[in-house]
Amino acid sequence: MVEIDIISVQPRMFEGFLSESIVARAVKKGICRVNVIDLREYGIGRWKKTDDRPYGGGPGMLMRCEPWFAAVEPLLPARVVMTSPAGRRFTQKDAAELSREERVVFMCGHYEGFDARVETLATDVFSVGDFVLTGGEIPAAAMVDAVVRLIPGALGAGPAATADESFGSSGMLEPPQYTHPPSFRGMDVPEVLLSGDHRRIEAWKRRAALERTRRIRPDLAKGGTPC
Ligand SMILES: C[S@@+](CC[C@H](N)C(=O)[O-])C[C@H]1O[C@@H](n2cnc3c(N)ncnc32)[C@H](O)[C@@H]1O
Repeated sequence: MVEIDIISVQPRMFEGFLSESIVARAVKKGICRVNVIDLREYGIGRWKKTDDRPYGGGPGMLMRCEPWFAAVEPLLPARVVMTSPAGRRFTQKDAAELSREERVVFMCGHYEGFDARVETLATDVFSVGDFVLTGGEIPAAAMVDAVVRLIPGALGAGPAATADESFGSSGMLEPPQYTHPPSFRGMDVPEVLLSGDHRRIEAWKRRAALERTRRIRPDLAKGGTPC
């Protein structure tokens, strides 16, 4: 059982995500628990303030540190993920590692981001890509989805479903895949996939995965050899 806590000033953003997704099914199966916490419960004063102007000037508002310390500390010990475009790029390897933790806390930033002291709460600072979103809710939802589907039992098809995927055990992209019909607008399914010869099919898939990875993500293909 992995306990996941998501802290946000916009907790309602997770309503659809937590009622319709693979995560919802995993929660129902008792594989994980997801708790969304409204940071405003820890806000300051009568107006439950969570933000303020940056010292030294500059545009926009920053998230104050006191509400974050008050919200995160009762959840420790845990892996604490701060969402930030300035973080390290989140990968499948990170998702696999977090799926083995007992408790993971996601901190969703807003406005111009966090007071720098909040980062001392984080065990990891992750970015989902080199672009800036308005808040950490979409990054947190993306990471939670990636983590939960790797928890054993979350996917109906079992561990093979994720091992053979892109960034899985081979570290490469998955090969092109096909379903019915065998021919569509002059585009044919490779004959080998229709042959029923599993050894040939596996060899084709490894070769196709390597070719595709070299073409699209040469950085991942280093060291890969076709079989
Ligand atoms: C508008 S952004 C703040 C951007 C910040 N001023 C900067 O330039 O790095 C507000 C919040 O959205 C989240 N966020 C935005 N883009 C992100 C990304 N690419 N990956 C992860 N989190 C992101 C973070 O939680 C961030 O604190």
